[in-house]
Amino acid sequence: MRYNVVKNAQAIVGSSGYLIKNPNNYKNKWHEVFGNKNPICLELGMGRGSFIIEMAKKHPNTNYIGLELDINQTATAVKNVEKEKLSNLKMICADAATIIDMFGKEIDTIYLTFSEPWPKEKDAKKRFTSTNYLKLYDRIYKKNKHIIMKTDNKILFASALESLSDYWYTFTKVSLDLHNDERRIEDEEVATDFERQYIKEKRPIYYVDAIFKD
Ligand SMILES: C[S@@+](CC[C@H](N)C(=O)[O-])C[C@H]1O[C@@H](n2cnc3c(N)ncnc32)[C@H](O)[C@@H]1O
Repeated sequence: MRYNVVKNAQAIVGSSGYLIKNPNNYKNKWHEVFGNKNPICLELGMGRGSFIIEMAKKHPNTNYIGLELDINQTATAVKNVEKEKLSNLKMICADAATIIDMFGKEIDTIYLTFSEPWPKEKDAKKRFTSTNYLKLYDRIYKKNKHIIMKTDNKILFASALESLSDYWYTFTKVSLDLHNDERRIEDEEVATDFERQYIKEKRPIYYVDAIFKD
């Protein structure tokens, strides 16, 4: 999928009520941002935001934060949500590597949706399921560790299962073909932008729901 360059992306993002401009200021205060104590789910690399917007509409009693590095993608996401009135959704334009500056122990679930695969071994530590990232997540979970991951990339998926199990996560649901699985998996109902394209191309989607309970 091609990434569009959005004209005036900076201005679009800057003027959106959904965008949190200085997220580091809200570390340990995200419940104040949302005005409630509901669980908070974080998507890393939300792209154009379709998944997190749909999830926020579907689950009004859960708070969602979509984080995206690219300003053009973020501008498209805020444009996509601008007409909605969702008090349980916020967006951040920042590098996922800096999440510990933005969050204390306040996140319930992390969504990793079609993340960059970083296929070369020398880049493996940049994968969102590398031990480096799993250690960062430990510092922002409220209580139990919980990751939900979807990808079309077999190598990334295999490496994720390995690093998650080495890190003592257990898998409550695994699917090697999410959209043709006989079992009903609730998150299957909300597709990301990349996922919609892959469904059309009939490519299998790999899915894992991984938890670690203290
Ligand atoms: C392949 S796209 C998937 C987008 C979306 N999740 C979907 O499924 O449609 C991966 C996204 O992750 C973003 N990304 C990559 N590295 C990132 C990082 N370190 N921090 C935040 N976002 C990142 C990219 O800019 C891109 O928008």
